[in-house]
Amino acid sequence: MNPHPSRSRPLRCLAAAEALRQACDFPRQPYFRDLIQGGMSREVFLESQRHFAHAVAFFPRPMAALVARLPDPRQRLDLLRNLVEEHGDFREEAFHISSFRDFLTRLGGVEAAELPPLPPALHAFQAALSGSCSFDELETGLACLGFIEYAFAELSTLIAVAVVERGWIAPQELRHYRLHARIDEEHAAEFFMVIESAWDEPERRIHVERGLALGAQLFRRLYDDLAEVKPMSGQGLALHA
Ligand SMILES: [Fe+2]
Repeated sequence: MNPHPSRSRPLRCLAAAEALRQACDFPRQPYFRDLIQGGMSREVFLESQRHFAHAVAFFPRPMAALVARLPDPRQRLDLLRNLVEEHGDFREEAFHISSFRDFLTRLGGVEAAELPPLPPALHAFQAALSGSCSFDELETGLACLGFIEYAFAELSTLIAVAVVERGWIAPQELRHYRLHARIDEEHAAEFFMVIESAWDEPERRIHVERGLALGAQLFRRLYDDLAEVKPMSGQGLALHA
């Protein structure tokens, strides 16, 4: 759906992101392959998603850094809209991290929604996004976050289908991933609108391509790391029936 029908679409950025997303082949990556084919236990999935919560909680901050760096107030608007939506349209119960905690609670009980200490893999992901969005060329940070949103739309669908098929969560209780499966390609397009004109300027285009590739690298690496997560031992979380 295009919420701005009067405006053109960032077709070249979207085509490049689609080609890259296909090249990433997320459904065959170990994390998603195991989840889809049933090789991942509910305990491991829950613990990996508790790690991932640090990415959800952090994502609006590099986004805000980009908003602060954009000199044109019109370009800031779409990102601001996305940023406000990350903050639940000013309602705390609808913050994206709130809906993600709700997902964790439904999967593993109230304790599961308490974020674990920051794992190194998530720390590295956060640091890379901060660095790119603060110090790289603007086109690079925008393309990087745009690709991550674009990929997350597909990954949200994969996860939503898998957790319902496994019977881990009832479809009507699946708020976070269902929402992101629906809205994140549009969020990606909002990032890409700002940089679409760079395709006509070789010296800017290279920064866009670099940013898309960085987003792909970071997200693939992150899920490779999540595929290595082990369930909590000993005092393991009691799973929500
Ligand atoms: Fe989003």
